Amino acid sequence: MCGIVGYIGNKQAAPILLDGLSKLEYRGYDSAGIAVYNGEKIDMVKSKGRLKVLDELTHGGETLPGTVGIGHTRWATHGSPSDKNAHPHFNKDNSIVVVHNGIIENYLKLKKKLEKKGYKFVSETDTEVVAHLLDYYYNGNPLQAVTKIMHRMEGSYALGIIFQDHPDELYAVRKDSPLIVGHTDGGNIIASDVPAVLKYTRNVFFIENEEIVRMTRDTMEFFTVDEEPIEKESVKIDWDINAAEKGGYEHFMLKEMYEQPKAITDTFSPRLKDGNIVIEELNMSDEDIKAIKKIMIVACGSAYHTGITSKYVFEDMARLPVEVDLASEFRYRRPILEEGTLVIVISQSGETADTLAALRESQELGAKVLGIVNVVGSSIAREADNVMYTWAGPEIAVATTKAYSAQLIALYLLAMKFAYVRGMVDASEMEELIRDMKALPAQVEMLLNNKGKIQRFANRYLAAKDVFFIGRGIDYAISLEGSLKLKEISYIHSEAYAAGELKHGTISLIEEGTLVAAVLTQRDLYKKMISNMVEVGTRGAFVLAVTNEGNVEVERAADYVIYIPETNKYFTNSLAIIPLQLFGYYIAIGRGCDVDKPRNLAKSVTVE
Ligand code: G6P
Repeated sequence: MCGIVGYIGNKQAAPILLDGLSKLEYRGYDSAGIAVYNGEKIDMVKSKGRLKVLDELTHGGETLPGTVGIGHTRWATHGSPSDKNAHPHFNKDNSIVVVHNGIIENYLKLKKKLEKKGYKFVSETDTEVVAHLLDYYYNGNPLQAVTKIMHRMEGSYALGIIFQDHPDELYAVRKDSPLIVGHTDGGNIIASDVPAVLKYTRNVFFIENEEIVRMTRDTMEFFTVDEEPIEKESVKIDWDINAAEKGGYEHFMLKEMYEQPKAITDTFSPRLKDGNIVIEELNMSDEDIKAIKKIMIVACGSAYHTGITSKYVFEDMARLPVEVDLASEFRYRRPILEEGTLVIVISQSGETADTLAALRESQELGAKVLGIVNVVGSSIAREADNVMYTWAGPEIAVATTKAYSAQLIALYLLAMKFAYVRGMVDASEMEELIRDMKALPAQVEMLLNNKGKIQRFANRYLAAKDVFFIGRGIDYAISLEGSLKLKEISYIHSEAYAAGELKHGTISLIEEGTLVAAVLTQRDLYKKMISNMVEVGTRGAFVLAVTNEGNVEVERAADYVIYIPETNKYFTNSLAIIPLQLFGYYIAIGRGCDVDKPRNLAKSVTVE
């Protein structure tokens, strides 16, 4: 995720900026830059690659003298990782400079308007719009210019801004993207995250949504978007650097689980416009969509599981046939891709060797490939014919959670779009689906906040030897992911089965006390599932059920029930997976496992 640091004080700014940015490196980035006011003008150095490059380019900051500056590490969203897309970004005469975290959702509209007024853009970023918009509104009053752009921008932003003709001031503002400020010995500092400031101060002010900060060397003022002054209290941070990197969470995995509501919102919100789904990056007309005869989904690991979920969604909602395959199988099986087949490859990293090979194989066979990818500018993103990004931000824990959740959303959006264009979903059904989608972030948050219940349950099963997950339809896909989460981080043997398959072998493994997690979110399959639960229960299994609120009937066949809030039949995976992620997590920490870095596993599998 991008990182911001800014400084104004008595010391040289550049070394402080570089040091602060180095504390944010763990979050993942692809380029970095700093800008410092040198007494006459603003100097800027930025570069693709590691912070080390920037450090060398500036001789540890020495070549950028000055005591006011802003710095940034960028995780590409709009525009590939490159020198020109790296932050900071200037206005037209280099007199205003900006660093930005977040996504300006209406940037294309703003860009078009600014271009009409003669503004020239040198990067592909949404951030450059901020610099030019500030320029457009600036008439000598920085605070006023900042509030004006806030009224025009949609999306999320944390900004650090310097105006050359107000060189004794540093401005910062935020909306839906974190920002903190603090007093240091001889100056003031801003940052997107606590680790960047810990060396300088432990008393910080958390900037709330739509609040603006104006700092000088020794003052700090806070304003609302209406330029009304606000009083704020500082908060003392007791975290050590390790805890601070994880935002106070014990592990990156837990932090990332908690980032799921945001990952979900960030993935759907730019694509929901006036009650419709607009996926510009698809580059497909309605005619193109209507011409699709079949979808072939190819991926690995959890991404493959989202593909299986979406098979049920696409087929039921859009009545489009879908085949899902593991990339490692697909690439060697001489697949048949008939005309009209759209290949979708799904990958968090965009670098998984088998998925990349499957993409190339598909293109060689003449198919168009759509990539659903999290890392902007990754190999799959570059090579796919079209790319739909998931906006989960960088994921650090090896076991994916938030990228998985974002992939589901991207796939739901596609299915909804295709279903609508194909006349399988009408306007009022679409309205309901969109309403349900918008409800998901709060529902996920609620499930996360119930983690205590799952933790207590998990603590009873720390010594489990085998855990089976069963489900039908979408619930089978959820089971696959629940089982993978558990085994990859806790090292407990686990399998997922389509519940109807139990009788064909697996049931012989059930002994007194074997834990079976049954997922039942599909109403038309409740009865069948309850029969399967009774079958394992009578053979001694302890049955944990994950089901929809109100399905109390399940209690006769389950020993322990976790309810998920009401949503439509297509989106249940987004909710039911939360308790299962938490279950795997708590079992793993209860067993003393290294949850963020499980043995033998890699975050990105770039070799076969
Ligand atoms: C690894 C990761 C999984 C991920 C899979 C596919 O196994 O540990 O979390 O689902 O690779 O990775 P991708 O980056 O292509 O989504």
